[in-house]
Amino acid sequence: MRVLVIGSGAREHALVLALRRDPSVTAVIAAPGNPGIGQQAELRQVDPCSAEAVVALATDVAADLVVIGPEVPLVLGIADAVRAAGFPVFGPSADAARIEGSKAFAKDVMAAAGVRTAHSEIVDNPADLDAALDRFGPTWVVKDDGLAAGKGVVVTADRRAARDHGAELLEQGHPVLLESFLDGPEVSLFCLVDGETVVPLLPAQDHKRVGDGDSGPNTGGMGAYTPLPWLPAETLTEIVEDVVKPVAAELVRRGSAFSGLLYAGLAVGSNGPAVVEFNCRFGDPETQAVLALLDSPFAELLHATATGRLAEVEAPRWKDGAAITVVLAAENYPARPRTGDVITGAEDSLDGDTLVLHAGTGQREDKALVSAGGRVLNVVGVGADLAQARERAYARLAQIKLPGSHFRTDIGATEVVIPERAVAAE
Ligand code: GLY
Repeated sequence: MRVLVIGSGAREHALVLALRRDPSVTAVIAAPGNPGIGQQAELRQVDPCSAEAVVALATDVAADLVVIGPEVPLVLGIADAVRAAGFPVFGPSADAARIEGSKAFAKDVMAAAGVRTAHSEIVDNPADLDAALDRFGPTWVVKDDGLAAGKGVVVTADRRAARDHGAELLEQGHPVLLESFLDGPEVSLFCLVDGETVVPLLPAQDHKRVGDGDSGPNTGGMGAYTPLPWLPAETLTEIVEDVVKPVAAELVRRGSAFSGLLYAGLAVGSNGPAVVEFNCRFGDPETQAVLALLDSPFAELLHATATGRLAEVEAPRWKDGAAITVVLAAENYPARPRTGDVITGAEDSLDGDTLVLHAGTGQREDKALVSAGGRVLNVVGVGADLAQARERAYARLAQIKLPGSHFRTDIGATEVVIPERAVAAE
């Protein structure tokens, strides 16, 4: 099978590596990719948001499967165009991708499916901001009501900080979404979804704040780990049965059937799991850890999803143990990351216990590897348990040098406690 992967981050690097482990895959082509992906796949240039360009590339490389990584092309309908040109595509239609692209659509679907989520209001007029903020708190969740790669979110107990963020977004012409705060630890559950067929992958947890102990501003994600030793099996079943399956069924009912990866971001609080957000693609950086433990042919799973045969394939098998991914970020990330610094010690790991995945890297004319984005590299560690996975990831990370860079030292090490149920699960 010849697989074309669209995207250029560490998530796509992880997708490429997992595809290459599938014996049915004869070639992986990535576009536009990055220097790290280029060591494992043929790189081609493409504008991921141009339907014409992606279709032309899929034709040129004779793709048997096209996998679209990021949300923006999906929301823009690139999967529809590629599918209409006759290629199997892993990724939802623009219609179904509204589950991520339109907060109003997502809330409407969840309400119809009877799924618990945060109460929310959209503010699009600065004159309404103060009164709306008064209806929320004491913890404010202020979001950019568009695709903002996680960085448009401020969660704060400081009303002034909430107001400043809301006002700044409105000034930029972005409507603001205010949400009630959901208590409890967050869970990312990725599910392969083909209409009403839902196949969960391993649950993971993302660390969104920039600093240790969940301090500082939100980022696109500073690290993740899987599986979650603190998440009871029955809560996982509850998430699949009472959250993801009803939403998938509701999308089918509306004529917006989902095909691809449906990502449920939840808080597991005193009233049970509640949805923070749905995304229409693999999450970053959780995918890097989750796929490191996958022991099934990945291309087969994606191809079956893309061709409406997910119910016919064997459920994914997983390696024992745990995996973590730690993000190495550039100086000043997430504000205004400095780029162009030389990276050393980031050669691909061949030991099987660690991986160095590229997120925001570039290559200078003299071939030196340089930083080219806020999140620069991801180091993945795999071990018999979380402690060993952590030890391996951090030992590998210590060998990498990037001036001014920073990373969290507590990925997978924070104590997680689920609040006691105030309401028994039905
Ligand atoms: N892990 C956050 C995201 O992918 O949106």
